[in-house]
Amino acid sequence: MIDLDSLRLPTHPRSARYDPAWMVAGCMGPNPLWLLEDLLADLPLRTGDRVLDLGCGQGLTSVFLAREYGVQVFACDLWVKPSENLRRFTEAGVDDRVFPLHAEAHDLKFAKGFFDAAISVDSYQYYGTDALYLSYLAPFVRKGGYVGIAVPGLQQEIDAPPEWLLPYWESDFAVFHSADWWRSHWTRPGQVEVVSVTEAKGAVENWRTWSLACAEHSASEFVRKMSVETVGMLDADAGRTFAFPLLVARV
Ligand SMILES: C[S@@+](CC[C@H](N)C(=O)[O-])C[C@H]1O[C@@H](n2cnc3c(N)ncnc32)[C@H](O)[C@@H]1O
Repeated sequence: MIDLDSLRLPTHPRSARYDPAWMVAGCMGPNPLWLLEDLLADLPLRTGDRVLDLGCGQGLTSVFLAREYGVQVFACDLWVKPSENLRRFTEAGVDDRVFPLHAEAHDLKFAKGFFDAAISVDSYQYYGTDALYLSYLAPFVRKGGYVGIAVPGLQQEIDAPPEWLLPYWESDFAVFHSADWWRSHWTRPGQVEVVSVTEAKGAVENWRTWSLACAEHSASEFVRKMSVETVGMLDADAGRTFAFPLLVARV
């Protein structure tokens, strides 16, 4: 039995203010608030900033951004319906400053220079490994603004799945990369100034704790099954392979 209050991590004091049951209900992968809190250590936001939350899923990060930083959030996602996110934003009392939108990352309808920051948590890997993608996204952010991502990834580049992970490996993991790979991927186009490349501390252990909680407490059978598999995979891996790269660049 895992106590939901154990999800209030002392290392993540802002996230610890959020109801763990609400976080579990919005689970689509690793805990997005913890990763966002880590990412924002190197990405300054000012009250009133316009922020693109790209691939926001069920909008946990969008609520967090609005509440914690007083920013306006354009909560864009492909798979989750904006009407469902509007209901969540209304319930969270942030629907006056968080705007849910259906959006495809390659076909954004915003004006160039509209955003003060574009952030993406556990989503950018789905489209951003294309060498040209950052050059497409960055112009939507004003000069001097920021792009920041937190992604599931690897401690180092690999040529093939590690043999101990074969029973768990999914083809989607092909987009997992190391922090150094991402640094070079963002530096080579020469369009942004990479200001920070780190790995989220303790994030793999936290992913396991979170997955245990979701396996036990999620109302969704799909999430419970996915979370059980994640715990099995992380136990088999014993800390050898995965990492969570965090990148921040100035436009
Ligand atoms: C694993 S979920 C994570 C959701 C949320 N960021 C979180 O951490 O809880 C990945 C999200 O990326 C979004 N996504 C994937 N490909 C996308 C694309 N091409 N354009 C926009 N969003 C995309 C999906 O709709 C999905 O909600």
